[in-house]
Amino acid sequence: MADDTRQKIIIDTDPGQDDAAAILLALASPELDVLGITAVAGNVPLDLTARNARIICELAERRDVPVFAGAAGPLTRPLVTAEHVHGKSGLDGPALDEPTMAMQVEDASAFIVRSILENEEQSVTLCALGPLTNIAEALHDAPEIAGRVREIVLMGGGFFEGGNITPAAEFNIYVDPEAADIVFRSGIPIVMMPLDVTHKVLTTRVRTERIAQLPSRAAKALSEMLLFFERFDEEKYGTDGGPLHDPCVIAYLLKPDLFSGRMCNVEIETMSELTRGMTVVDWWGVTGQAANAMVMRDVDAEGFFELLTSRLDTGFSRRD
Ligand code: BDR
Ligand code: CA
Repeated sequence: MADDTRQKIIIDTDPGQDDAAAILLALASPELDVLGITAVAGNVPLDLTARNARIICELAERRDVPVFAGAAGPLTRPLVTAEHVHGKSGLDGPALDEPTMAMQVEDASAFIVRSILENEEQSVTLCALGPLTNIAEALHDAPEIAGRVREIVLMGGGFFEGGNITPAAEFNIYVDPEAADIVFRSGIPIVMMPLDVTHKVLTTRVRTERIAQLPSRAAKALSEMLLFFERFDEEKYGTDGGPLHDPCVIAYLLKPDLFSGRMCNVEIETMSELTRGMTVVDWWGVTGQAANAMVMRDVDAEGFFELLTSRLDTGFSRRD
């Protein structure tokens, strides 16, 4: 595929095993041009998410993908992390080498702004897999980028399914609700992958076993990450496998027909302690407020795993 037909994306992320799956899916997909990976504090602190992003690039043998460090914490609140899900490193599971590729010196939000201004209007998609702090900072520093971003596809929120970090809120939005509020009010076209979708994408034993059998080092390491990652949610929800949240964002870019939803108005709760970070989705259109997001509700989970597994199969060199 010629370079100029590839879709330009920036992956903003807090890896996280499911972030790792999303990044590997993107790096294995020839339709996508990953301009850079921007790390944000979330699942684990920033020094670890920046480290983990580089580990994933090295697993994919893609040291050429630049990795930028961004916000060390939310805009106005103390950082909440999720080691109880992801382990101390954020990528617990496989034995992983420390990364050797360098971090970029430019700040993540500066890189986001520069990429959007330097590239043609509507050509860069932001893929948000963690708290939205870096993207909110970019919008604060350069509000003019809002009209130039193609779209933001984000994993965050939940509505019919409720929350996962509190009864009302999903983790990414809960950690930095003020940042999410800025993003949802930005006017940028948004595609939202909430828990309503991701809770249907389960890493069952059969599905992870297929990934474990693939011949690359990246797929093998990912399968070990997934085995660690699913244990918390298997116990919590009593399911075979856990939800594989973040790769839904990348799968949407590759095969949007796997997902269905509707355009809705979405507002973020920032005031209440009880419902902090709740995504209030006007699914039934009762407010009369303009829609600001395509809210996904359903997914073809078999089709999703078919896509993920086949890309992991063809995207990386075989280990010997
Ligand atoms: C989200 O929170 C993180 O723990 C995962 O990486 C995902 O982005 C799910 O609520
Ligand atoms: Ca994440």
